[in-house]
Amino acid sequence: MTATAVAHPNIALVKYWGKADADLALPATGSVSMGLDVFPTTTSVTLTDRREARDTFTLNGRVVDDGPLVRVERFLDLVRGMAGSDARAAVVSENTVPTGAGLASSASGFAALAVAAAAAYGLDLSERDLSRLARRGSGSATRSIPGGVSVWHAGDDAGSFAETVPAPPMAMVVVTINDGPKEIGSREAMRRTIATSPFYPAWVSSTTETVGDMLAACAAGDFTRIGELTESNALRMHATIEGAFPPIRYLTSRSVAVFDAVVAMRADGIEAYATADAGPNVVVLCRPEDRARVAGALDGFGAVIESGTGPAARLLRSEDPGDHPR
Ligand code: ADP
Ligand code: DP6
Ligand code: CO
Repeated sequence: MTATAVAHPNIALVKYWGKADADLALPATGSVSMGLDVFPTTTSVTLTDRREARDTFTLNGRVVDDGPLVRVERFLDLVRGMAGSDARAAVVSENTVPTGAGLASSASGFAALAVAAAAAYGLDLSERDLSRLARRGSGSATRSIPGGVSVWHAGDDAGSFAETVPAPPMAMVVVTINDGPKEIGSREAMRRTIATSPFYPAWVSSTTETVGDMLAACAAGDFTRIGELTESNALRMHATIEGAFPPIRYLTSRSVAVFDAVVAMRADGIEAYATADAGPNVVVLCRPEDRARVAGALDGFGAVIESGTGPAARLLRSEDPGDHPR
């Protein structure tokens, strides 16, 4: 049995940074994101012989045999548990997004894996349940199952899923400053922030409030308010992370230069707002009609890519080779 799925990264407007329960991957707060229509991940899951001791994972043509393989295996263990199967699998994935660079490869990666693995193991899951499953691979992947702008609810295992919310038309311009993997992955950085940053409790209480404000701004179609909340929440997250000990600083001087350029753009009358996930790369939120101008203004700060609002994760094909004898 082979199933292939595609999913896109999402960039948080209100960030998820901290778990309430690491085993179940329950977040400390809700979060809100915009799915991208660029940088898809395509993942195939092929069930192999039961007696094989391990799953295999090939990413961008290279066989993975370390931490990311273990993470994929743990995730497949969950799927096997749900399906009552002990079949091992061969996972083959292609990221078009840089891996581990703060552009949400873990989101597109585990959303695509959730959809492909569920189909390969014969599970027929609703969007909500796929979103809950993707959550167990990477928190941000929860929001890459539904399309468009989505909210990931804080809650218990049953209640912590993502769904699309109404929002005005929006676009993003991704400025890639460094496409290499970060030194400290999101998972570890999050743990250290919770354990050592004195700002973390304030981050949790303020972000809980911002999620409500952001959903209200989305429902009202208030792009300006969405942008202001987005930029503020990103800076608050980075301040919280920088407060960890030993400190973690994802933004470089070149990232900050993009934030400055966005402030200057606003002074010139273009409504643009900057955000950045756990990495040096900056993503600029703007109105769809301004995206080419924003991209033009940011050319020179890094590799610039424009994105609209992306689609939901989807199954591309699912086939049982046994049905098609050659
Ligand atoms: P990012 O900012 O890219 O999301 P993270 O530190 O959150 O960075 O996650 C990077 C990790 O996500 C990788 O080390 C790997 O474990 C996992 N990952 C990335 N892409 C895929 C994929 N296509 N399939 C499975 N796992 C993936
Ligand atoms: C800064 O989802 O990558 O991108 O749940 O441990 O896999 P794990 O972490 P991950 O963290 C994403 C953090 C962020 C903000 C966000 O996407 O909301
Ligand atoms: Co990630």
